[in-house]
Amino acid sequence: MCGIIGYTGKNNAVPYLMTGLRKLEYRGYDSSGIALQMANDIFVLKRQGKISELEKAVTPELFSFCGIGHTRWATHGEPSIRNAHPHLSRNSSFAIVHNGIIENSAVIKEQLSCEGYHFLSDTDTEVVCQLLEKNYKGNPLLCIAETLNALEGSYALAIIHKDYPKTIFCAKKDSPLLIGRSSEGNFVFSDCCASGVHCESIYCLEDYELAEITQSSLSFFDKECNPIEKTARTVAFNCSDSEKNGFCHYMLKEIYEQPSAYKNTVNAYYSGGDISFPLARFSSKLVCGLEHIYIVGCGSAYHAGVYGRYIIEELSGISTSAEIASEFRYGNVPLNENTLVIVISQSGETADSIAALELAKSKGAQTLCIVNVEGSTMAQKAHRLIYTKAGTEIAVATTKAYLCQIAVLSLLAVFLSDKKGILSAETKEKLIKEILSLDSAIEKELTSNECLCSLADRLKNAEHIYFIGRNTDYALSLEGSLKLKEISYIHCEAYPAGELKHGTISLIEKGTPVVAVCLRRDIFPKTLSGIKEVKARGAKITAITREEFRPLFGHEDNVITIKSDICDMFSPFAGVIALQLLSYHTAVKRGCEVDKPRNLAKSVTVE
Ligand code: AGP
Repeated sequence: MCGIIGYTGKNNAVPYLMTGLRKLEYRGYDSSGIALQMANDIFVLKRQGKISELEKAVTPELFSFCGIGHTRWATHGEPSIRNAHPHLSRNSSFAIVHNGIIENSAVIKEQLSCEGYHFLSDTDTEVVCQLLEKNYKGNPLLCIAETLNALEGSYALAIIHKDYPKTIFCAKKDSPLLIGRSSEGNFVFSDCCASGVHCESIYCLEDYELAEITQSSLSFFDKECNPIEKTARTVAFNCSDSEKNGFCHYMLKEIYEQPSAYKNTVNAYYSGGDISFPLARFSSKLVCGLEHIYIVGCGSAYHAGVYGRYIIEELSGISTSAEIASEFRYGNVPLNENTLVIVISQSGETADSIAALELAKSKGAQTLCIVNVEGSTMAQKAHRLIYTKAGTEIAVATTKAYLCQIAVLSLLAVFLSDKKGILSAETKEKLIKEILSLDSAIEKELTSNECLCSLADRLKNAEHIYFIGRNTDYALSLEGSLKLKEISYIHCEAYPAGELKHGTISLIEKGTPVVAVCLRRDIFPKTLSGIKEVKARGAKITAITREEFRPLFGHEDNVITIKSDICDMFSPFAGVIALQLLSYHTAVKRGCEVDKPRNLAKSVTVE
């Protein structure tokens, strides 16, 4: 995924572009650059590495009323200055930034090479730029439309031309692109937190739409360049979401925002004694007719789905499975109108998850999207929608969004069983009472921050760490393993506690760290057996458990206990805080880039 920002207005574009790139850096940080319209010329400045490298190159003299910027997560071509965006056409008339993948770029590049075009980079984006120049006959909009017709794949494009001062042309297919109008000028961006100023109107470009932005006007067109009208969305822009507010890292800030994020999510769907999902429109008839539920996602969203599978089956009795989106989309899954496919995504832009949603819709399944980013591609494509209310999440490693995903799934599990009429009033009241109390339980877990920081000292030099658990403890183990792995670069794997002995236990040797998530009372003795098996082979145990079980562990074990008496089903809401803080401190102690881990991006908008 890459980040795009563009500005045209009455002020210098450079500060807006640089602020935008800093706010978009979580979308990719291999390289970055800006292109500025100067008098009948285009000035391009690019650097490899983080935005800070580009900031060092920006001088106070740089001034333009119009420009575009880009921060890159490499797909075609290694991270380098020559592959960095913006790209210039051969005669330097067009400059372009792109988010997406042009799947037929090699064929087009071959054709253009035969016609004498030379390429400075390995990117698919430069191919588009040279094709623009080839197709240009004096009208940039018609030239862009003709060029797009030749492309296969995904794109969000911002384009400037040296003869059209203060004008930015935009186009979009399968990658997000938004247009914002503000009192300080007009913007194009990958997401609306990037502008750094409040945009009173936000327009979401739809697939195949074009836009022409000037200082004073926003014009929209269909792919035949016919003018179209678009309706603006007003977006509750929360600047503080994209600031650290005194925390060292966005990740820690977002861990501490979880009590309020959780409360905002629950309060959005529970009021007056009942749970309702207005944008999901679930009828009792639909719920009672469901034969199977697939919960689909990637990474942490998939892990939320694994949790959801357990509690939806436990409460509603509806057959449910959790699926990895990149597998689901290429499988031959039996889907029909009695199947519900729930796709979970924080960004709403993950290519594999979008493809899974499209597959489900094409096969006539009922679909529901659980998404955090309003106006995202998935939110626009969803038949049924439930927003998590986590707010803007900047750190690449998700925390509050994951927590809000399992919060929505918990509410949904209660809702579905209630719709099926199998939930007694007493049980429903008990479950809801517990759900409503979890924000304070989460708050309490944050007080473990210091002891988890010291525990991190004992894990920070490990090469391999294994996580084990059963049922919802296993779902939590998956998330704890990924969190630690992706920000500390320690190899971590999660296994069902009963599965380790079927092979992987051969890797356990003296001192191997094993994190045992054993919060569930109903199967604690079984998980304890798994713990004893690995201890017998030398493992060093870190247990995430309850105070009542502490006496069953030895002084040689690290024992982290949750602070509230939460039922088995909802115990992950407390346990996940310890795992997040443990991961965070371990990564900090290893000197890792906590908010922007190597090789990662906040959302993977390519296959
Ligand atoms: C989680 O910490 C990772 N950053 C990653 O696994 C993420 O959950 C996954 O890429 C899915 O992203 P999405 O929720 O935006 O679809």
